[in-house]
Amino acid sequence: MSHRVKGVIAPGRGQPTQLTDILVPAPGPGEALVRVHACGVCHTDLHYRQGGISDDFPFLLGHEAAGEVEEVGPDVHTLEPGAFVVLNWRAVCGHCRACRKGRPQYCFSTANATQKMTLPDGAPLSPALGIGAFAELTLVAAGQCTPVPRVRPEAAGLLGCGVMAGLGSVLHTGKVAPGDSVAVFGCGGVGAAAVAGARLAGATTIVAVDVDDRKLRWATELGATHTVNSTRDDPVEAVRAATGGFGADVAVEAVGRPEVLQQAFYARDLAGTVVQVGVPTPDMALPAIPMIDFFGRGGALKPSWYGDCLPSRDFPMLIDLYRQGRLDLDHFVTETIGLGDVEAAFDRMRRGEVLRSVVTL
Ligand SMILES: NC(=O)c1ccc[n+]([C@@H]2O[C@H](COP(=O)([O-])OP(=O)(O)OC[C@H]3O[C@@H](n4cnc5c(N)ncnc54)[C@H](O)[C@@H]3O)[C@@H](O)[C@H]2O)c1
Ligand SMILES: [Zn+2]
Ligand SMILES: [Zn+2]
Repeated sequence: MSHRVKGVIAPGRGQPTQLTDILVPAPGPGEALVRVHACGVCHTDLHYRQGGISDDFPFLLGHEAAGEVEEVGPDVHTLEPGAFVVLNWRAVCGHCRACRKGRPQYCFSTANATQKMTLPDGAPLSPALGIGAFAELTLVAAGQCTPVPRVRPEAAGLLGCGVMAGLGSVLHTGKVAPGDSVAVFGCGGVGAAAVAGARLAGATTIVAVDVDDRKLRWATELGATHTVNSTRDDPVEAVRAATGGFGADVAVEAVGRPEVLQQAFYARDLAGTVVQVGVPTPDMALPAIPMIDFFGRGGALKPSWYGDCLPSRDFPMLIDLYRQGRLDLDHFVTETIGLGDVEAAFDRMRRGEVLRSVVTL
């Protein structure tokens, strides 16, 4: 038996989202049905709507969510109905070549629900990042549910994507250590979390770069020691000035644009690390950086998917830090909205007015 509930779909490339009825199947083997309590609006949802990720329309959007397990499939023994969970898009398989090498954060075969959620006429939906949580109920693989202590769902859900990606980009991918200098390019939900992560890790110089003064103000509240509006000042020069003339140990690109990657590349110290967490579109190419600069400056260029996180390890730990007042997840929740407001939230995101709009149900 399937459930008929409301969900937000992206019907076609660049077309406005629609709040519509969807059918969510009862959980089969390995699956869990989750009642969504909160789901943040991530820029990746907008990429899906624009056709920047793939052409598998219609998408069921939303992937940054917390909720309660409603029902589990017949063979699922690791999860109880009623559990408070954050949904993740890295349910590791345990037996691919990455998992076997003890590097499950790179799992090449992560699990999603086997059954499809559909429109009432039976047309299958593609859930964003295998989640699809702008909906009252969603069907996921049981491993996509990470149980955490029960806290405000709007805050917890943020760990499901953007905030985890930002935190992990400095904690795991960039391996920021006490005393390091960090520059973060783009201070939306992801970049602002990178700033917060840099503070958690003990970075002593944290330079926030954005084109919007509001974002720079929020970044300061989350721990930035210096801010640069790159429409007014040269960000490479400004980062060097803030770091004794040298550049940052770790530079995080959290926009997803070649020219910003280039700025991050040159704003880092010799032997420093560039972490790219912003998602490019398929038409973009790496900036034309002289090969002698790539070689001569040393260090590393590292893409970071989901902040190289392991949900089972990281989500409960980050919720603990939140409960101890050491990680201000509430700061990222600019507004709470209804399921019918996602399209307007995309407009607010484009205008730079929010860190996160969070749908509450
Ligand atoms: N790697 C991952 O696992 C992962 C996870 C979630 C999101 N993302 C990606 O991270 C990126 C950021 O996501 P978000 O949700 O924070 O988006 P957002 O829209 O909230 O933030 C983007 C920020 O970049 C700023 N910006 C735009 N152009 C700029 C420029 N030229 N220089 C400096 N700043 C600029 C904007 O003002 C805004 O503050 C997106 O590409 C998103 O798809 C990646
Ligand atoms: Zn695996
Ligand atoms: Zn996301």
